[in-house]
Amino acid sequence: MTKRRLTPAEIEYNETRANVLKRVDSSYVADAPFVFSNRIAVTAALSRMELFKKVLDVPGAIVECGVYKGNSLMLYMHLSMILEPYAINRSIIGFDTFEGFTSIDKNEDPSDINENMFSDTDQSLIQDMINANDLVRPVNRIPRCELVKGDIVKTVPEFVKTRPDLVVAMLILDTDLYAPTKVALETFLPYMPKGAIVVLDEVAYRNFPGETSALREVFDLNKIELKRLPFDSSVGYFHI
Ligand SMILES: C[S@@+](CC[C@H](N)C(=O)[O-])C[C@H]1O[C@@H](n2cnc3c(N)ncnc32)[C@H](O)[C@@H]1O
Repeated sequence: MTKRRLTPAEIEYNETRANVLKRVDSSYVADAPFVFSNRIAVTAALSRMELFKKVLDVPGAIVECGVYKGNSLMLYMHLSMILEPYAINRSIIGFDTFEGFTSIDKNEDPSDINENMFSDTDQSLIQDMINANDLVRPVNRIPRCELVKGDIVKTVPEFVKTRPDLVVAMLILDTDLYAPTKVALETFLPYMPKGAIVVLDEVAYRNFPGETSALREVFDLNKIELKRLPFDSSVGYFHI
């Protein structure tokens, strides 16, 4: 995995931000998140908004494989609450171990990653905020957002058996790894109508080639129209 070298200006930016953060408490940060957000975080938010708009007219679930701290998942929940508050046929489903990487493939994934990576998260914290948002949204007796804990290689095939109502409008593949990406693609594909979109967060990305290998094994690249968002250098997506 090649590490990105920070420029002196980026190092100074990071130091300044760390020092400024020491001057405020967490509620200050929560009230004014953009004061502290860096370019990468704002780009990610903007690209998720663009992608969400592409499936506003497609019923079904937004499935995120790889939730980590829930930043994107909760943004999707907010967008759904704001842009389609009465969409009882929309659910947002997040799959993660909430304990870090698992099912690392020694041939397809980078050799210098390990199972501790992304383990610094807290599922109960995300669940508490889902529940808090449920208090203030319309038709809140119908769940909008749910978390499924465990290895996607196992949980995703088990999950679809329990949900005969499942339609997937947007499948977001962001585990960074080969095996969970492949299982998620193969399992959810039959549930995706024409017009639904598949999003890969690390497509054509040398540091984490597993998502791209999995994509190539499930789809003929000549037959999908893989696109990027011009301002986001990592995300790729295509319509079914
Ligand atoms: C890059 S992070 C996801 C970031 C998140 N989508 C966001 O936008 O904030 C990758 C996540 O994939 C999860 N993950 C990796 N392999 C997994 C597997 N086999 N099953 C479940 N989760 C997995 C990790 O635990 C980690 O939280």
